[in-house]
Order: sequence, then C-alpha cells, then structure tokens
Amino acid sequence: MNARPVIEDLSSFWMPFTANRQFKAAPRLLESAKGMYYRSSDGREVLDGTAGLWCVNAGHCRDEIVDAVQKALSTLDFAPTFQMGHPLAFEAATKVAGLMPEGLDRIFFTNSGSESVDTALKIALAYHRARGEGQRTRLIGRERGYHGVGFGGISVGGIAPNRKTFSGALLPSIDHLPHTHDLAHNAFTKGQPAWGDHLADDLERIVALHDPSTIAAVIVEPLAGSTGVLVPPQGYLQKLRDICTKYGILLIFDEVITGFGRLGKATASEYFGVSPDLITMAKAINNATIPLGAVAAHRNVHDTVVNAGAANAIELFHGYTYSAHPVATAAAIATLDLYRRDKLFERAASKAEKFESAAHALRDAPYVKDIRNLGLVAGIELDSRDGAPGARAYEVFVKCFEAGVLVRYTGDILAFSPPLIIEDDQIDQLFGTVRKALESVK
Ligand SMILES: Cc1ncc(COP(=O)(O)O)c(C=O)c1O
Repeated sequence: MNARPVIEDLSSFWMPFTANRQFKAAPRLLESAKGMYYRSSDGREVLDGTAGLWCVNAGHCRDEIVDAVQKALSTLDFAPTFQMGHPLAFEAATKVAGLMPEGLDRIFFTNSGSESVDTALKIALAYHRARGEGQRTRLIGRERGYHGVGFGGISVGGIAPNRKTFSGALLPSIDHLPHTHDLAHNAFTKGQPAWGDHLADDLERIVALHDPSTIAAVIVEPLAGSTGVLVPPQGYLQKLRDICTKYGILLIFDEVITGFGRLGKATASEYFGVSPDLITMAKAINNATIPLGAVAAHRNVHDTVVNAGAANAIELFHGYTYSAHPVATAAAIATLDLYRRDKLFERAASKAEKFESAAHALRDAPYVKDIRNLGLVAGIELDSRDGAPGARAYEVFVKCFEAGVLVRYTGDILAFSPPLIIEDDQIDQLFGTVRKALESVK
C-alpha cells in the first residue's frame, strides 16, 4: 500500500509539542486524508476523532476548498495588505464578519491562533490608549487557559509547562482567574455544570486589588479545550461579561477551537448567548487548509482605534506579511460557503446528543474518573498511574491509533473533537475503540 519511499532521516524536523525522542523511536506518519479518515504510512485508514487539531471541521480534502486554493494559487500567489489590498481579503472579512455576534464585524487577519491572541491583546491596549486611558495595561487570563505560544498568549495562559521555562520573560501585569474544574461537584456532568458560576466573582477581587483603571482586558476560552475540555458552568460567562461591562474592561473570547461550528453554532458566543468585545479565531476558519487566523473586533473598539488620529496616519502599528494571504483567504471563503451550503453547524448540533451518550457510555470503563462534553467536544479524564502522570492516556492514544482511530490526550485526559461530518457509526467506532484500549492498558 505504501507507494512512497520510507523516510530515512527523522532527525532534522524538531517537532512541536512532541516528545521528539519517543516519537522518532516509534513514528506515526499520516500520508493522506479524505473526509473522516487519514491514511497512515503503513496503508491503514485512521478515523479522525480530533479533526486534525480541532480544525478540519468540514472533513479532509474537500473538493470545493481544494479547487478554490488551486485557483487562488495560480491567480494571485501573494499580494501585500500593507498599504495595498486584494479582493479576496475583503470578501473573506465580510464573510467572517457575517458569522460573528452583532457588532463584532471588523476583522483583522493573522496566520494562527497564537497570533490572533497577541493581536487581540494589543488591540485591547490600543483601544484604551486611544480613549486616553493608556494606563490600562493589566491583562487577566485564567488558570489552565490555553492561548497559544506567543509571549502574550503564554502570559495570560494558565498551563504551567507552557510557562515555566519562560517564566522570567512573561508580560509583567498579568492576573489569572481560577479555573472551573472541580470533580467534587461536577464529575460526569452532561453539558454545562450547574455548579461554579461563582468562580467568575473572583474577577471582582482582582479588580478591587488593582483598581479598574489599570485593567485592559480579560481573556478566556468560552470552553477550554487544550487543557482537557472544561465546560463553563451555567451563568459563568454572563457573569464575566457583566463584571467587565461594569468596569470598562474588554472581554476577549478565545474561540480558536470553538469557532465555526464546534458547539453547533458559528461561535461559542452565539451558543452561550454572551457577546465579548473581541473574538480570536483560526483553525476551522478555512478548514485548516492554509495557515489563517483572525480577530473580530466590535465596531466600537475598531472605530475608537481607527478614528483616534489623523486620517493619513497608520492607526495600529501591527500586522503580518501574510495577514489575509490570498490563498488562505480563498480557502476561508470556500470553507465558509461549504459550512453554509451543507448546514454543517446545524449538523454538529444534531449529532451532539448521540455524541454525548456515546461518550458517557464509557463511564464504567476502566480508569475513567470523569466524562464531560458539549457540542462535538468531549473529554474523558483517567486516573493517573502512580508516579507516571500521562503515561496511561498516552498508551490509550497509541492503542487507538494502532486500531485505526485518532484521539488526543493531554496529561491523563483524552479529548475528542471530530469533523462535523461524523456519522453515527463513526461515533460508535470512536468511543468503542477507546473502550477497548482502556480495557487493554494497565
Ligand atoms: C484556544 C486556543 N487559542 C490559541 C491557540 C493557538 O493556536 P495556534 O496553534 O494556531 O497558534 C489554540 C490552539 O489550539 C487554542 O486552542
């Protein structure tokens, strides 16, 4: 089956977020993909239980997106968006804006989630400065939050291993809200836990400590993904919204994972009915075909920054060579059209119940100490093996891969986020394979 030459040298590629020595001793290579499946280098079909990295929401190698990319690439390989423009950039921005909550219709393009986060944090600072409140520089994230790997993102982020090596170089004025994970109250909750909205009140404590006049923005993932699927307690996000509004603090929702249908709506903001001032996104914005991210800013935020200076002056000294790259934006246009044509967000919503019951059916499987879910996201937390945290989930991940199913793990938490085109029997295959893997590990 393997038509390609075996790769002989794995040493040059320094792999991201990977135990390089462990991987290279027993590599797992994916060579092609179509729809719900990858094909591994040893010729096996592998069901994609994670939409790549939470990003291939329409499924792999969709013809409509491939065609749009090919056409764009042979028409306009690159064009600058500094002091110049090209039609696809404006068209993509209008389409993205059309999916955002009311008012968040000014779109700044980046190349990744990390860049979107740093861009949003900078826009927040620029906004306050333009209003004559340049002393508002404090940024507030949350424990266990993941906001990518830029210095801004790891500063507001709350995942210790991502921060500790760089701790001396993090941004200076940062606080963190408490995370919302509490198995004593919320274990095996289906959907949003009833307990925990009071954890948002901690923002009042931070505000009282520093004074609101020093605080620029709060950033949270509406549903925390990378840390291992933490679903927000009922009422929690609205409380954050209310406190931010009360003190003139901008609220940023990091929707890099939740954007574009993951919860059955275009955004988690829409799903939860809570509107932030800025939304960060990437990944499924163009089905992950070509690197692309974006920040949606509320018109008020945009106008405050853009109208602050002289009409011939650059308003925001920020941008990337590849902001709104023609090929990436062409992919976004085709992707967003595909989501609409195939009603994929509605499809995700219609599969959520089946997904929930299949995930929670593993409650009696070995080592399972929690299952949590929302939309087409689920997390299964395992008891850690004594003295070897993460080892058990890693073994489950490898066994699943060998059995033809791709899952993700972080610490001892398994995470699931399949493409929105998943079928019922594939949902059964996904969780059935995990059960067998759990039954076969120690
Ligand atoms: C919520 C969130 N923010 C930011 C990022 C970073 O995105 P990227 O890896 O594209 O930089 C991620 C990646 O998973 C994410 O989940």
